[in-house]
Amino acid sequence: MEKIRNFCIIAHIDHGKSTLADRLLDFTGSVTEREKQDQLLDNMDLERERGITIKSHAIQMDYVHNGEKYVLNLIDTPGHVDFSYEVSRSIAACEGALLVVDAAQSIQAQTISNLYLALENDLEIIPVLNKVDLPSANPEEVTDDIVDLLGCSPEDVIPASAKTGLGIQDILTAIIERVPAPKGNPNESLQALVFDSVYNPFRGVETYFRVVNGEITKGQKIKFVATGKSYEADEIGTLKLTQVPKKKISTGDVGYLITGIKDAREVKVGDTITDSAHPTKNPIGGFEDVKPMVFAGIYPVDTEDFEDLRSSMEKLQLNDASLVFTPESSAALGFGFRCGFLGMLHMEIIQERLEREFDMTVITTVPNVSYHAYTTKGDEKPIIVNNPSDLPDPSTIDRVEEPYIKATIITKADFVGNVMSLCIEKRGQIVNQTYLTTERVELIFDMPLAEIVFDFYDRLKTVSKGYASFDYSPIGMRQSKLVRVDILLNAQPVDALSALVHFDNAYHIGKKMCEKLKELIPRQQFDIPIQAAIGSKIISRETIKALRKDVTAKCYGGDISRKRKLLEKQKKGKKRMRQVGNVEIPQQAFMAVLKLN
Ligand code: GTP
Repeated sequence: MEKIRNFCIIAHIDHGKSTLADRLLDFTGSVTEREKQDQLLDNMDLERERGITIKSHAIQMDYVHNGEKYVLNLIDTPGHVDFSYEVSRSIAACEGALLVVDAAQSIQAQTISNLYLALENDLEIIPVLNKVDLPSANPEEVTDDIVDLLGCSPEDVIPASAKTGLGIQDILTAIIERVPAPKGNPNESLQALVFDSVYNPFRGVETYFRVVNGEITKGQKIKFVATGKSYEADEIGTLKLTQVPKKKISTGDVGYLITGIKDAREVKVGDTITDSAHPTKNPIGGFEDVKPMVFAGIYPVDTEDFEDLRSSMEKLQLNDASLVFTPESSAALGFGFRCGFLGMLHMEIIQERLEREFDMTVITTVPNVSYHAYTTKGDEKPIIVNNPSDLPDPSTIDRVEEPYIKATIITKADFVGNVMSLCIEKRGQIVNQTYLTTERVELIFDMPLAEIVFDFYDRLKTVSKGYASFDYSPIGMRQSKLVRVDILLNAQPVDALSALVHFDNAYHIGKKMCEKLKELIPRQQFDIPIQAAIGSKIISRETIKALRKDVTAKCYGGDISRKRKLLEKQKKGKKRMRQVGNVEIPQQAFMAVLKLN
């Protein structure tokens, strides 16, 4: 146990976490030449393509320091707010954290939010000043920023380059010398923290755990405390680049467990594994069921594919327990599912996986957050509104509440005005403004989560010329003036285009939606009126003029290759069209409300 070090790497996105992990694996000889690939830990295709870590993983390295053999468990954490609960559990499995800060970008919003998570869990923080090789690096200034943030001394900050390998040995030495060895009692009843799980189609769910007390042995009857289910530990082992089966994993160490579980929902991140016969009396604290934050409808483009879609979603759920869905039907789109996601990125990932792994073509409707509606009947429990059509008749509503977040934004002093205006436009209330340095400002707002779903990131990037970072955490429900804006095409309401919005924005959004839909819906052989309405009141109107000519007519004779290109483009556009009544609506139209500016 004294020779084990469990640590994670925390950083703002793109500050070099994955690259540094690769370099550590290299340096400790944990990878063979053949296995060398960039960003080794990101082994899902999608992750590698997007260059982001979606699921956290763990890996064990052996390292000799002063003639003594050490086992270093690196627990990788996802870098996106959608997955912050997983980050918090991975952090809880460690004693130390490398806090990676880009020497050109300095401290950003996720540097701070992850740091707070690490400090809450009493982790030893090792600050790493990465990318010192960059010509734009500002090592002295950024070191000062880190010293201010942590209250450490400048000597504690390790200058490094995950690119050139500079500082890697110093980092390993610091891990061994500064991160405490795990504590715990090997003689107590088993108590292991589940910090991640991965679905393997051949072996079932692989559970990643950290033993806090006791030990787990192959064949042991074990129990998951939160789900109350018992299994046999068919296989346990440590996580090298491949899995290495072992007879037992002891206090302080990290490993994987295979029990033949075929459904990801049976293994919950944050749960405690214990001995079935002698269960622990103290499950590890901090367990939470992850809750979806964003809801949207998913429909097959071809109504006949509904059953295929169902079976694809069920398979997806087997390996992604955070995906929830229930069947719903829409007058416009037919049968589909109302799905709950951890956030917008998660939603995109699911949509993409449906298409890539299951060959489905789907239409996703405007996402919304989960509202609580109370009717004048005075019922105690709210009506949960995950779908615009669930909103009760306005005349019966007493009040509606919406989820709020604490938003942390770090930007340059020059952009404070712009960022403030944006946040206020998004119904934010400023809570705090702190100058981290003369140049850099931290702004804290209370904001409705719904406003983050609607084009916030892009706008923030624009108004700050890219110099703003953003993070958030939920702070509960607050009362809101919510209305449903319905869209009528050809005088027919299209339920799948309805959106729940704040009353103050309803007119503006209704108008913008009509304009946007006019842009997106192709002209057809007849005029198509587009109307936005609240209840029976029309608040905006546009018309798509009848005109349906061959798109190639524009290319007067001549260039055949250009013609072909246009035709192909038209064909592609077709793929994701949905006939509603006699109007063809492209996929982008269903998401139009997200990109109104
Ligand atoms: P996520 O996994 O998406 O959270 O990002 P990350 O923090 O892991 O960043 P990643 O390792 O993907 O690095 C981001 C970019 O910075 C990549 O293009 C790296 O090649 C580059 N990079 C990382 N470390 C260094 C460094 O020390 N020097 C230079 N010049 N570039 C680096």
